Amino acid sequence: MKRMFVFDSYSTKEVYSIINQVVIPRPIAWIHSNSENNIGNLAPFSYFNAICSNPPIVMVSITGHEKKGVKDTLSNIQKTKEFTINIPSVELLNQVVDSAADYPTEVDESEVLNVALEDGTFVRSKKVIKAPVNIECKLEKTVNFGDPYTSGVTVVFGRILALFIDEKIFEEDLRVDPLKLNPLCRLGRAYYAGLGQIFTRKIPEL
Ligand SMILES: Cc1cc2nc3c(=O)[nH]c(=O)nc-3n(C[C@H](O)[C@H](O)[C@H](O)COP(=O)(O)O)c2cc1C
Repeated sequence: MKRMFVFDSYSTKEVYSIINQVVIPRPIAWIHSNSENNIGNLAPFSYFNAICSNPPIVMVSITGHEKKGVKDTLSNIQKTKEFTINIPSVELLNQVVDSAADYPTEVDESEVLNVALEDGTFVRSKKVIKAPVNIECKLEKTVNFGDPYTSGVTVVFGRILALFIDEKIFEEDLRVDPLKLNPLCRLGRAYYAGLGQIFTRKIPEL
């Protein structure tokens, strides 16, 4: 027997919690952005994925903020039109999660948490040196669902300008070893994971 959820009878918080626990694992975009005054900002987002490769577009969904209205990441992206996505490995768990704390806008999380950054090539936003993958993006478009200043979201679509992959995680040529990438995966509640068993199976040719 399966328990049915029809969301009309649940609070926003409950709906979030239910979806979060079963649509797993989610990759994490550790986003670096800059304010107009060049204050850096670093925060994790797991409603994130690559959605197409031609053109190369990623999406991140950012909810409103109780006090600020708009989270710093979204405000920065809307103003500067650029950001970097850093894909963290499991070793970065503590810094990734700690960077989600509700720091004031004028605080740069990378400084407080000692996350070493390097300059972007095509964007002013910086790249997390220890993240095995960095993606430099420019804002393509945003789409709002609900009221983005309260319980709704703004979905940010970013066009990939350049993608950087640590030489050490390549098996050969264009083949990346997923175990060496060792991505931090977001589950529900306060659970995180690394990769479990890996299987191979080719799609049958008909
Ligand atoms: C692993 C992880 C994933 C998160 N994913 C999201 C997400 O997809 N969307 C979102 O709005 N907030 C997400 N958050 C919460 C934000 O990181 C948090 O609100 C953060 O303070 C935003 O920072 P900012 O105001 O500097 O942008 C996540 C937090 C963690 C720890």
